Amino acid sequence: MHKTGLLFYNRVMTSENKSILLIITGGIAAYKSLELIRLLRKDGAQIRSILTAGGAQFVTPLSVSALCEHPAYTDLWSLKDESEMGHIRLVREADLIVVAPASADFMAKMAHGLADDLASTCLLAADKPILIAPAMNHRMWAHPATQNNVATLRARGVQVIGPDAGAMACGEYGPGRMSEPEVIFNHIHSFFFNTDQLHGLKALVTAGPTFEPIDPVRFIGNRSSGKQGIAIAQALHDSGADVTLVLGPADEPVPAHLRVIKVHTAQEMLAACESALPADIAICAAAVSDWRPAEFQEHKMKKRSDQSPPAIALSENPDILKTLSHHKNRPRLVVGFAAETHNLLDHARQKLKTKGCDWIVANNVSENVFGADENHAFLITSQTTLEWPRAPKAQIARRLVQQITEFFHDRLESHKAAE
Ligand code: CTP
Repeated sequence: MHKTGLLFYNRVMTSENKSILLIITGGIAAYKSLELIRLLRKDGAQIRSILTAGGAQFVTPLSVSALCEHPAYTDLWSLKDESEMGHIRLVREADLIVVAPASADFMAKMAHGLADDLASTCLLAADKPILIAPAMNHRMWAHPATQNNVATLRARGVQVIGPDAGAMACGEYGPGRMSEPEVIFNHIHSFFFNTDQLHGLKALVTAGPTFEPIDPVRFIGNRSSGKQGIAIAQALHDSGADVTLVLGPADEPVPAHLRVIKVHTAQEMLAACESALPADIAICAAAVSDWRPAEFQEHKMKKRSDQSPPAIALSENPDILKTLSHHKNRPRLVVGFAAETHNLLDHARQKLKTKGCDWIVANNVSENVFGADENHAFLITSQTTLEWPRAPKAQIARRLVQQITEFFHDRLESHKAAE
């Protein structure tokens, strides 16, 4: 790593030369697979795709072919493909097989070895690693038949991504939503490149806003979506760290395998963070409210036409990043965020000093960052400033995790050298 100056980060490994067979089965989440293809193509992967009959009800072979830049396969009996033993060739050429979305029906077929269409025939002939991203109604997911099938597939070494809990297309709520394309992309990426480099390390991540109650119905809050912090927690998890995510009130779906402590206020967030110590890494990505109403009104404040609007006296909230940076159980690496609307780098460098943390990730929140899927950020340390050009938040998260990996690797090496 260069020690001075402004650098464009270009050392991230890409999926170039990796070949993925993507199977899209029948589920409304199939539309998200188009975004997955886009992310993988952008990362340099080659994609061959199979649409089951159900999958083709939700997305067309034409859109899949266009994004893959290769025809989508649909038919086991297509003379041309099968005269070349199409299904065997598709499997042979793949480094990895991904089923996204994996419907309950298709998982049942996989578990029981059925082979009545191109996709299931390929899987029965497959000697390649398989990742599946289930998607279905939450009752179908919870059904013992599905759970047995998942257990069978896991026991055979199939990796299962998600599903997430959240609002579903059918209007119900629960676990069953397909993981977001960025999350599946990260799994695929770590399948190829990750070697569990952070295994054995404990990480604590704060994300989302805090809501500070004024009365039972009103609060002071902010526009943070929690997306960047959740992506960081996921990327740390992908690298083998044992992650605790302390999450303020955010609507963003959280991958079901992450350990989450949900909080509302800054004081609750601090308590949750302290309960997660000791940790090796702390990343404070939350947009913590700096102030809270000094007094909580037990009853809803009523509007009175004969009185002017009430003044709300504020008290200062604890600074979680600063507290962790000076804690007796201080994590070895403490990273803060700087959300600024102007003088980004100056303010961020100032924050590095005043907060006492090791690194600051700075982003300009006037650039449509809150709630967006992309971010443009700078990583500031006492010696370096790296620029990460606008990219999906999941990619920014991976870049940060790569820096963290290098930090711990360097420390491990100097430790070894001193022995
Ligand atoms: N932070 C925190 N606790 C607070 C306030 C902020 O842990 N009470 C953390 C945030 O999670 C972030 C960093 O401090 O990692 C900077 O947050 P930011 O909102 O950019 O700055 P503030 O410290 O709130 O200062 P200002 O509002 O003046 O920019």
